[in-house]
Amino acid sequence: MRFLTAGESHGQKLVGIIEGLPAGMEISKDRIDMALRQRQMGPGRGGRMAIEQDEIQIISGVRGGLSTGAPIALEILNRDWENWEKIMAWGESADLDSRKVLTPRPGHADLTGYLKYRTEVRNILERASARETAMRVGIGNIVRQGLTALGVEIRGHVLAVGGVHALRSDKEEYWQQVKQSKWSVGDPLAEKLMDKQLLTARDQGESLGGLLEVQVYNIPAGLGSHVHWDRKLDGKLAQAVLSVQAMKGVSFGLGFEAGERVGSLVHDPITYRPGRGFARASNHAGGIEGGMSNGEPIILQAVMKPIPTLYHPLDTVHLETKETIKASVERSDVCAVPAALVVLEHVVAWVIAEAVLEKFPADSFIELKTTWEDYKEHLRRL
Ligand SMILES: Cc1cc2nc3c(=O)[nH]c(=O)nc-3n(C[C@H](O)[C@H](O)[C@H](O)COP(=O)(O)O)c2cc1C
Repeated sequence: MRFLTAGESHGQKLVGIIEGLPAGMEISKDRIDMALRQRQMGPGRGGRMAIEQDEIQIISGVRGGLSTGAPIALEILNRDWENWEKIMAWGESADLDSRKVLTPRPGHADLTGYLKYRTEVRNILERASARETAMRVGIGNIVRQGLTALGVEIRGHVLAVGGVHALRSDKEEYWQQVKQSKWSVGDPLAEKLMDKQLLTARDQGESLGGLLEVQVYNIPAGLGSHVHWDRKLDGKLAQAVLSVQAMKGVSFGLGFEAGERVGSLVHDPITYRPGRGFARASNHAGGIEGGMSNGEPIILQAVMKPIPTLYHPLDTVHLETKETIKASVERSDVCAVPAALVVLEHVVAWVIAEAVLEKFPADSFIELKTTWEDYKEHLRRL
C-alpha cells in the first residue's frame, strides 16, 4: 500500500491517491470530514482556519461506501483559492510579484529551499506548509477506519504546551475529558494555564510548541520485523512522525527516561496466562521490541517545536539587498499542538495499516479480517 499527495498551501486544492487498499472496506466520508475538522480546531490557530472548512471529495476507488480495490483518489479544495488564483496560476499570466517573499523566515524551509531549488521562496513555502497535512489526515482516516473495523483503537493526548505540563491518567474519565478538551488534555487546571500561556505568547508576538502522545491498542505481537533496518516498526513510526512539520523528536514508552534507569527498571517481565497467551507485566518499551509490536499497546511521544512564523519576527537577510531585516510574516498559528495531535494519530494509523497489510497481505477486506482473527486466536492458544 502506498500514497502520494500534491498541492500547495494556497493552490486550488490538495490531492491524494492511495493504492493497494483491499476491496470491500467500509469508508465513511463523514468520519473523514470529522477528522479534517478536528485538525482545524484548537486554541492558537490563525485566521486561515476560519476560512478553510475542509471537506474530502472522494473521486475514485470507492463505490456504495465500500473500497473497490482500485486506487482511491481524493481532493480537498482550498477555499482561499479565489484570493490566490492570480498569484498561484500555473500559466504565464501568474502574478509573481505581489506576494513575492524576499525575507525568508527562520525555522522554515524558506531559505534552504530557495538555495537548493533556485526558485522563489513562495514556491518553497507553499509546499512546505503544514496545509499539506490535511490530505495526510484524509488518507490516514481511510485506513484508520479499516483498523477500527479490525478492533484497533488509536488515541492521543497532549502532555504539555509551552512548558505547562498536564497531569495524566489511564482512567476512562480522563480520556472522556481529553476528548472534550480544546487542548486535548485531561487536566482542567493545565487547560487554564495553557490558555494563559497562549495569551501571553500572543501578546508578545511569540509562539508555542509542546509534547504529544499517541497510543495504539489491540495490536497483536508481530507487526514489523527485526530482520532489516527498513522493516522495523519503531523506525517506520519515527520516520512518519518526524515527517510531520515541526516535530523534532520521537520516543517510545519510557522514552529518554530509559537512559537514566538501570536495566531491571526498564525492561518488561514476560508473563503467561492460559487462554490469553504471552504478555508483559509492564509496558516501558511502549509496545515495540526488536522492531516488532510485542502485543502491548504502542505508546509514542513526540515533541513539537514552537511555530516558526513569529508576529514579532526574528532577523533575517533580504535576499537581494543582503541587508539584515525582520523576517516576513505569513498568516500564522500561534500554537497548533492539538491540531498536530490529530495529524500524528493519522500518520501513525497509516504506518500501522501498512504493517498489518505486510503481515496479512489481502485483496479483500474479508480475507484480511479472517487471517487477522486466525492469527490472534493462534497467539491466544499458544
Ligand atoms: C498542524 C500544524 C500547523 C502548523 N501551522 C503553522 C503556522 O500556521 N505557521 C507556521 O509558521 N508554522 C506552522 N507549522 C509548522 C511549520 O509548518 C514547520 O515548522 C515548517 O514547515 C518547518 O518544518 P520543520 O519544523 O519540520 O523543520 C504547523 C505545523 C503543524 C503540524
